[in-house]
Amino acid sequence: GKGEYDHFMLKEIHEQPVSLSQAIEGRVDPARGRIALEEFGPATFEGVESVQLIACGTSYHAALYGSLALNRAGVRARALLANEYSVGAPPVDENTLVIAVSQSGETADTLNALRQASAEGAATLTVTNVVGSTAARVADETLFIRAGPEIGVAATKTFSSQAVMLVLLAQRIADDVRGGPGADLESLLTELSRMPAAIDDLLSSTNARSIARRYEGCQSYFFIGRGLGFPVALEGALKFKEITYDHAEGFASGELKHGPLALVTPETPVFAVFTGTEDEKTLKNAEEAQTRGAPVIAVCPDGHRAVDVADAHLEIPDTDSMLAGLFANVQLQLVSYHAARLLERPIDKPRNLAKSVTVE
Ligand code: F6R
Repeated sequence: GKGEYDHFMLKEIHEQPVSLSQAIEGRVDPARGRIALEEFGPATFEGVESVQLIACGTSYHAALYGSLALNRAGVRARALLANEYSVGAPPVDENTLVIAVSQSGETADTLNALRQASAEGAATLTVTNVVGSTAARVADETLFIRAGPEIGVAATKTFSSQAVMLVLLAQRIADDVRGGPGADLESLLTELSRMPAAIDDLLSSTNARSIARRYEGCQSYFFIGRGLGFPVALEGALKFKEITYDHAEGFASGELKHGPLALVTPETPVFAVFTGTEDEKTLKNAEEAQTRGAPVIAVCPDGHRAVDVADAHLEIPDTDSMLAGLFANVQLQLVSYHAARLLERPIDKPRNLAKSVTVE
């Protein structure tokens, strides 16, 4: 049941410290600076030349996050929408690893793309939450995110676990390709092992409810981010539109001036996600919106330059830039939840949506 919570979504947001602990349990060893993904034999990914990540919706945002983690680790990777795969997938061969990211493991579009990639000779892997799911049976290899059942139609805790597992998997693939562990892994693993407690702190100190109240009734809600902040901006907007039914849109920060800026008014709050990568540029983009009257809500650590410029602040801890966006995502989940609550929406079961989309 929902226990002390009014909605499954809020319960699942609050479960993230536990679901992330479960995800990384036994899989990271910060003291020895190593990753242990025992489900894959030694050098499983040695011959991988490029990676395609396929998924839909929220899982696509996690896939995008994973593709950036892979690129940063020196492995060629792209995230692709599973429903576009049959009409425009880049060619694959036996040195291509295709990773299907699916919470349910039953999404028809994702399964179709996975089967296509497999038929064309790619190696396949699925990152899923559901043991015994179709994706787990179809793919050559499986990585379970161990988030536990998710009841709310809007995915929350499973996004965080997908992204964290893809960050780990990216390091492991890069290690196998390189033939040894990369630099900086120790600090990432240390921050990762602190993440559950740090999310707990964020959940107990968040001002997301007052932000939702302050910007209630606006015309549109924009979310911008760069690098790993971009998938977080897309996810922030998707969550917002799913459960509030208000218009929301996520943009790469730098894209704002290439068109969307025409929509910016005092009635379009802009949530700007700062992850520690080229933050000056993102701040400049946010200021361009602010100049047109839009309130800017900076999602960044305390003491960040953006705090002085912005109209409001959602705080995230000062952590590894690979993980900062995931904290920002939790703050944005909470803003969407509280905004939907003020509007008295049926948060756990938004109109027209189903938890698992098993038709094409
Ligand atoms: C959004 C949401 C959907 C799913 C998408 C893929 O909150 O839940 O966008 O992410 O339908 O589902 P899975 O991950 O089960 O393949």
